[in-house]
Amino acid sequence: MEFRAAGIIGMPVAQSKSPIMYQFWRDQYKIPGAYIPMPVLPERLEDAVRGLRALGFVGCNVTMPHKIKILPLVDRVDPLAAKIGAVNLVIVEADGSLTAYNTDGDGFMGNLAASCPAWHPTSGPIVVLGAGGAAASIVASLVAAGVPEVRLCNRTFSKAQAMRDRYGPAVHPLHWEDRHDALGGVRLLVNTTSLGMTGKGDLDMKLDGLPPDAAVADIIYIPLKTPLLQAAEARGHSTMNGLGMLLHQGVPCFERYWGIRPEVTPEMYQMILATL
Ligand code: ATR
Repeated sequence: MEFRAAGIIGMPVAQSKSPIMYQFWRDQYKIPGAYIPMPVLPERLEDAVRGLRALGFVGCNVTMPHKIKILPLVDRVDPLAAKIGAVNLVIVEADGSLTAYNTDGDGFMGNLAASCPAWHPTSGPIVVLGAGGAAASIVASLVAAGVPEVRLCNRTFSKAQAMRDRYGPAVHPLHWEDRHDALGGVRLLVNTTSLGMTGKGDLDMKLDGLPPDAAVADIIYIPLKTPLLQAAEARGHSTMNGLGMLLHQGVPCFERYWGIRPEVTPEMYQMILATL
């Protein structure tokens, strides 16, 4: 197999788990190549993106602060990524043109399918806390999967309304104060805010109204078990943490880079966990 490099562009990138994730899979599937963390200043983004083709890269992942600014620099944007308005993957096509994708929502859905196989998109309403970049990709994927109702609670109400405008009438914007009362009949509760992350504020979320068989997801992975997930587990809900989402968003990226759909195994999960 031909040697093909990929990497991640961001600023900073040193904290990224992607190099060790992809290294693990390349070793496992014996794929020649390399995966390189590339610190790129905003004013150098255009040069860096142009350089991918010249350097023979198969593509690259994209992280903060470039996920939006990269959009006009590629030749084609996948419809889901265009709808989300942000990108985490650029592929160099055989003809040298660049296509951009967003696999963050795939990561969420893949993690959900693995952690909660009984859950089905059409089984009922979902509550999403937050309306930032992470919420956008998750809500886009949930709506695309056929979730009938997404109750979206955000501190800044206008951002929740903007999500309805973008993703359609399945999205019901709610005020932040109404989050505790939004849980009736809900099948899944998702926290996409930074509340509960080490060093950030606490998430005040009363779970009394949550049906016992609902699942609870947090996209945070430091700590792995946020106070929300601890409270949910204590009530007997099935839970999903953010590490699984991080690993699963890499699956379609790796497949597009090197043509093999890799698996998120317990061994890989433990290996990444040990680096947190
Ligand atoms: P990301 O791209 O990781 O989603 P973000 O775009 O900064 O990050 O979004 C962070 C989310 O956490 C937002 O929904 C934010 O609410 P606002 O839209 O009102 O800013 C939410 N958030 C952050 N701090 C919060 C707090 N103290 N209380 C409630 N929500 C908070």
